[in-house]
Amino acid sequence: MYFDHRFHLVHLNYLKYHISPDSFIKKLIEDLIIVCIMELKCKCGSTCIRTAEEILIQNKEAFNPCQQCETIPLKKFSPLSEQINLNIIDSQFERCSCGKRHLDITVAHVLKLMVDEDLQNELSTLRNTCVPLITPAYPLQAIPYLGDKSLIVLSPKMNQQCAERILEEIPEVKAVIKGETNKTVGIKDSSHEPHVYETLAGCDMRCDIINTPQGPICLHKDQSEIHIEFPAHRSPKITSTSLFMKKHCIDSDFTVLDATSGPGTLGIFSLMSGASRVVFNDLWKPATNMTALNLEVNGFKVDFFDETLEKCMIAHGEQFEVYNLDIRDLGSVLDEKFDLCIIDPFPGVNSKEFVESASKLARNILVIE
Ligand SMILES: C[S@@+](CC[C@H](N)C(=O)[O-])C[C@H]1O[C@@H](n2cnc3c(N)ncnc32)[C@H](O)[C@@H]1O
Ligand SMILES: [Zn+2]
Ligand SMILES: [Zn+2]
Repeated sequence: MYFDHRFHLVHLNYLKYHISPDSFIKKLIEDLIIVCIMELKCKCGSTCIRTAEEILIQNKEAFNPCQQCETIPLKKFSPLSEQINLNIIDSQFERCSCGKRHLDITVAHVLKLMVDEDLQNELSTLRNTCVPLITPAYPLQAIPYLGDKSLIVLSPKMNQQCAERILEEIPEVKAVIKGETNKTVGIKDSSHEPHVYETLAGCDMRCDIINTPQGPICLHKDQSEIHIEFPAHRSPKITSTSLFMKKHCIDSDFTVLDATSGPGTLGIFSLMSGASRVVFNDLWKPATNMTALNLEVNGFKVDFFDETLEKCMIAHGEQFEVYNLDIRDLGSVLDEKFDLCIIDPFPGVNSKEFVESASKLARNILVIE
């Protein structure tokens, strides 16, 4: 179980300290928030999962350079060994006194260790070293300066020994995953085999921040099990959903079926836009687990969550339910007509049957292309 909701740790001790009623209430709320955050536990037992509020407060300046941050420029497409002597790279190399290092320097350190372990060679470039996945990730204006545990390294060439060295020797790295970057993680449809990446070291839980007209949404993802989407300044699927709701006058007290919900982005956006009820569904179990987690993280309290359940409702709250079913089977558990069904299939998946199933369940259907 990733989280539950017990607030029994609230201490009222400061009553004794004769503080004003206002300060008392403020402190009480702070304590409650801290307890909530503590209860949002990651599978690794650490603090990888935080509430949207906490992430957004801490994240504002997290990847900006300080006034002293500066770095040597490196060319991404030229062999790194022709630009610097790889032997001088260690965890202090090009690190500012504020503790941060430029992303390119961190990737250079990853490449140095991969060359040491014979997984890359002297001609390797920063570009072909790895896919750097930053966390928490939001659309950035410039290449980020990284602090501790803010990077997940994804590479098809990785092995266990090198992954463990990278995690141990490079403070910025939170996890190392092995996987083919051109292969989508998850399941494309029920007729396809699922595909997952392999977490070799660390914890692969990361968070994307998506801007929406209703405010930002924080989406946690076990990155070895959930497909990668890079946050853009404007998310095209959020824009399509928002425009569709306006066009069809779906603006108050409406119901939504997010039929291929992934980690829950569009259904959570629907709740933020005023939907009175949202049913989330996805065929891929890890995606429905993430949906439940992301609901809680973004302030929609989950009253029930059982990750051991399959092929049925795995979570619910006051305004939502989360199902783990093939979209084609939803009609057997849902006896209602939604105002809107959102279908967001993976690229290349024929959505004809998805739309046929949805047409029995909803008055309006939005297919994200
Ligand atoms: C592009 S992703 C959805 C992303 C999601 N809308 C978001 O923005 O976070 C497509 C999703 O369709 C799900 N899927 C594939 N086949 C399905 C099926 N037959 N029924 C329900 N979901 C399915 C996949 O597991 C995947 O999570
Ligand atoms: Zn974790
Ligand atoms: Zn600095």
